[in-house]
Amino acid sequence: MISKASTSADPVADDREFTFSTDDYAFLARLLKEKTGIDLGPSKQNMVYARLAKRLRKLHIPSFRAYCDFIASPEGIDELGATLNALTTNLTKFFRENHHFEHLADQGLSEIRSRAATAGKKLRIWSAGCSSGEEPYSIAITLRRAMPDIGQWDAKILATDIDTEMVRRGNEGIYNAEALEGMAPDLREKYFEQHGPGKVRVKAEVRQLISFKHLNLMAQWPMKGPFDVIFCRNVVIYFDKDTQRVLFDRYANLLVPGGFLYIGHSENLFGITERFKLLGRNIHRKIA
Ligand SMILES: C[S@@+](CC[C@H](N)C(=O)[O-])C[C@H]1O[C@@H](n2cnc3c(N)ncnc32)[C@H](O)[C@@H]1O
Repeated sequence: MISKASTSADPVADDREFTFSTDDYAFLARLLKEKTGIDLGPSKQNMVYARLAKRLRKLHIPSFRAYCDFIASPEGIDELGATLNALTTNLTKFFRENHHFEHLADQGLSEIRSRAATAGKKLRIWSAGCSSGEEPYSIAITLRRAMPDIGQWDAKILATDIDTEMVRRGNEGIYNAEALEGMAPDLREKYFEQHGPGKVRVKAEVRQLISFKHLNLMAQWPMKGPFDVIFCRNVVIYFDKDTQRVLFDRYANLLVPGGFLYIGHSENLFGITERFKLLGRNIHRKIA
């Protein structure tokens, strides 16, 4: 339940364009935690101000208190989505933490191939918290490169994020050319095409492997699985331990026995779940 911002004023800085009290911050932080699991803690006032001031300006709303009241009202339901979009952190890049894609190409796919002998040529990978798509496209390129016979497989990558703008961008697959800096030239040439000045687009053969969907990890999930592999990297950094416990348990429920879970470099499952075995470099195998 979202309660309204309190009425006491406690501006963080007097010279700011919009009044932003500690109560307004507490309201927004509570709302974000409740809706997304993201726990900002007490010290992200400046970040919240910077990200939401644009929304107030655009909507001609005079103060953060009025903005909080608006998003807590039935009329503000669409703006609430924009609030959540603004407050998520979407930093990502192609082949980030490349060892996960190397592991997928080698061990991951070799185990999936072994299972296919009895289970059929079906392959399911989930990029949970996919941001603007660089992670699922890196997965899809990895599959295209490592599986010359992919056309004979029922291979699907599900890419989900809570941020509707990120899902839209991912689905489009258009990036600034600089996003490919550092990528091997043969990959750039093979899997991307020019898309107007300074822009590139992921080629259709890669895009067609992925379905982008809006999904809040805190909500009900429509898919039943099972997945061979789940990527959930750099998503749970701001989730508290209890939220992580529930989430990783749900991932274990959706993975095939022995399936792989990749998490981000600053994340770990210690004290969170015993259903995975750490294989090293934040690669986990489902064991229970
Ligand atoms: C820092 S990005 C990580 C992107 C990518 N996985 C990577 O490692 O490069 C974190 C993403 O998690 C998403 N996210 C945060 N909370 C979420 C939630 N409750 N449900 C779904 N996505 C969420 C954010 O919108 C953001 O796009």
